[in-house]
Amino acid sequence: MDALTQYLEQNQERFLENLKACLRIPSVSAQPAHKADVRACAEHVAAHLKSIGMPHTEVVDTAGHPVVYAEWLGAPGAPTALLYGHYDVQPPDPLDLWKTPPFEPTLRDGKLFARGACDDKGQVYMHFSAVEAHLQVNGKLPINLKMVIEGEEEVGSGNLATFLKAWKDRLAADVIMVSDTSMLGPDQPSLCYALRGLMYTEVEVTGPTRDLHSGEFGGAVMNPANALATIIHRLKDADGRVTVPGFYDKVRELTELQRTAMRELPFDEAGFIRESGAPMGVGEKGYSTIERITSRPTLDVNGIWGGYIGDGAKTVLPSVATAKISMRLVPDQNPDELFESYAAHVKSLAPAGCTVVVRNHHGGMPFISDPSDPMMQAAYRALERSWTKKPALIREGGSIPVMATFQSVFGKPSILMGFGLHDDQVHAPNEKFSLSSFHGGTRSCAYLYEELARG
Ligand code: BES
Ligand code: ZN
Repeated sequence: MDALTQYLEQNQERFLENLKACLRIPSVSAQPAHKADVRACAEHVAAHLKSIGMPHTEVVDTAGHPVVYAEWLGAPGAPTALLYGHYDVQPPDPLDLWKTPPFEPTLRDGKLFARGACDDKGQVYMHFSAVEAHLQVNGKLPINLKMVIEGEEEVGSGNLATFLKAWKDRLAADVIMVSDTSMLGPDQPSLCYALRGLMYTEVEVTGPTRDLHSGEFGGAVMNPANALATIIHRLKDADGRVTVPGFYDKVRELTELQRTAMRELPFDEAGFIRESGAPMGVGEKGYSTIERITSRPTLDVNGIWGGYIGDGAKTVLPSVATAKISMRLVPDQNPDELFESYAAHVKSLAPAGCTVVVRNHHGGMPFISDPSDPMMQAAYRALERSWTKKPALIREGGSIPVMATFQSVFGKPSILMGFGLHDDQVHAPNEKFSLSSFHGGTRSCAYLYEELARG
């Protein structure tokens, strides 16, 4: 075993402690009450980077939450990689469903439970551990390294594009590295080359100007909750296709070759559905589950409310009903282009007797890259070295809005080498990161820097 691998093995416990310290900071970017915690987390990450030998580290203010920037440029002639990750996390709610508190990282059965354990603090700390190992063992890194660890990924990276454009020259790199995706199974290393985009909207339906007695008025005026249900029902047809005009115009259809490749992936469809807790898989007609979640667009209600939701029964017609409706998009759909047509369609679907307001929240462009790029091949070799099974090339259904920005602004290839698992409960109670992912991922990151240097 080489000295680097040995260092990684001998320091596993300390690497875990470093991660736990970061997980104790509730850096919930969506909630104003946690603004100071988000900044404290940025400061903590910066201090940690300095302590492992990244002296050029700073916390950079933006119009929103700060970005942590760090660089190590001591390998003249070697390629430069830009590591992107995020230190912000999703809200921990609903709190009562956590077995142990979300910001008190707890180890159970070889898994670390905490908000952000997998998404994305755990995956960012794999890189930090790998960097530390190289600097300790060799006194240097095999490549030049720049890091951008942001605090707004979970709220749509609204201020990141401005930062990236302003810092464009300073951030120049040959490749972008990201660990914020998943693997197909606990022992199945995976490299991701495509992500879905997102359009996130809110539909507010108003009927009467105030709540009404449902006996007095029921049947005589439009109930906005009923109207909202009608609209949502009409947004998808019986085949599970979105009815917005033009929605599929720019969708890149899968080729037969791509469909075959996807069928051959070691994806456990039955296990995936079982893991979801749903009684069965349901989706767009004519597509398999893995095609549906990675390569087809879809529309979902994320939240819906209106009227009486307390104990018992209250006979009332609500004045207002609202739903958060999001669409996952695929190449080459564009949320900015689709919004107008979507909003007009939603209004056209509304029954008479109510008014509808459609709002656009943050979105993100879909992303697709070339899996045969030499940088991807380097990542492939790094995974081959650190795992037993051959790496799988996958597309994923989640979104990382900045990936498309990196592509258009920097024009450089990206490596999405992630280690999450489908049962990690990201964005949900009891989020966890398996130690096999954390330590295997750390090894993969350490080898990735070497493989990138090899070219
Ligand atoms: N790590 C995820 C993205 C992800 C999830 C990639 C699953 C692949 C598989 C990321 O932190 C995330 O959750 N992104 C948000 C983006 C949104 C807030 C714009 C998402 O996908 O919902
Ligand atoms: Zn996330």
